[in-house]
Amino acid sequence: MSRELTIALVGASGVVGAEFLRTMEERETPVKELRLLATSRSAGQTRRFRGEELTIEETTPAAFEGADVAFISASTAASQELCPIARDAGAVAFDDSSAFRQAPGVPLVVPEVNGVDLRDHAGIIATPNCSTVPLVLALWPLMAERTIRRVIADTYQSTSGAGTAAMAELTDQIGALMDERPVVIENFPKQIAFNAIPQVDVFQEDGYTKEEWKMLVESRKILHQPALPLSATCVRIPTLVSHAIAVHVDFDAPLAAAEARALWGGQAGLTVVDDPVNGGYPTPLDCAAQDAVFVGRARQDVSSPNGLAFWCVTDNLRKGAALNIVQMVEWMLEDGCL
Ligand SMILES: NC(=O)c1ccc[n+]([C@@H]2O[C@H](COP(=O)([O-])OP(=O)(O)OC[C@H]3O[C@@H](n4cnc5c(N)ncnc54)[C@H](OP(=O)(O)O)[C@@H]3O)[C@@H](O)[C@H]2O)c1
Repeated sequence: MSRELTIALVGASGVVGAEFLRTMEERETPVKELRLLATSRSAGQTRRFRGEELTIEETTPAAFEGADVAFISASTAASQELCPIARDAGAVAFDDSSAFRQAPGVPLVVPEVNGVDLRDHAGIIATPNCSTVPLVLALWPLMAERTIRRVIADTYQSTSGAGTAAMAELTDQIGALMDERPVVIENFPKQIAFNAIPQVDVFQEDGYTKEEWKMLVESRKILHQPALPLSATCVRIPTLVSHAIAVHVDFDAPLAAAEARALWGGQAGLTVVDDPVNGGYPTPLDCAAQDAVFVGRARQDVSSPNGLAFWCVTDNLRKGAALNIVQMVEWMLEDGCL
């Protein structure tokens, strides 16, 4: 029998927290005890897990005592405070925020790509940004055959990427517009309903947003390509779940679309949907509540002799967050490094 884990889940009342519960049920994660944690705002609420009602408690340092692992999925500020507390209590902290992703000694992992990096952890492990995960997983099998010279990645990101309140803001705005009431803007820089906003996170001095910078530096760390040239434009669109990316990659030599499809077809975690004339391409709605990263629209980039253009989509709450962390735990249990 595999080892059973005591798990502290911080952010249990959030949209990613809900996905952790679903994912652990579906994948039969070996749970001995599950502690649901959030703030005093949602303490006392309950969530169902494997047929049992569990009560959410306020997060305190004592909540990590005796835990084998902690899933910290709350906010960057909460992670900065809570990951070291969880680690010092003896748990391995899996962090969903950007707080530790670039820290030396903190593995930043997509298990299908760089699972071996998990062996070098020192108590804190980070999961990448929800747009970085599908991008690196789609690039990874292509890198077995070609050297990447340059990547352009333009995202179409759903409102759930900004949490529960942001999803509600989209539906509230649509309702308000239909009823001719004033629109309330709180979670996004502009109205998101019937719009597209080329700003995810704050702007930096170089004109890129922090989300775009994350896609660059996280891809470099995961792929072990410290000089990888990558430029992203991250756009929020009025969907609820799944992030999509239009990708253009330049290689050292041409890569035919058929060859790319064959390489993707052999990669765990990827599903190829590429019969565009018959509607065979992934959309955010198709991919919601699915585990895979879906790729399609593969074609030679007519603007570059060694270029490939494609489209990829994944459920940002699943492979972009909860599922990737649960898979890291599975990988480590199998490997014996947890
Ligand atoms: N949404 C995504 O696609 C996605 C993808 C990758 C990573 N992430 C990251 O995952 C984290 C959670 O995102 P979300 O989308 O689930 O947000 P959310 O729906 O707004 O939920 C936030 C959760 O964190 C809890 N929380 C906030 N501050 C806390 C604190 N100081 N101590 C303990 N719990 C605290 C909240 O509890 P209360 O209910 O008590 O307020 C709630 O359970 C964020 O760090 C986010 O960047 C999200």
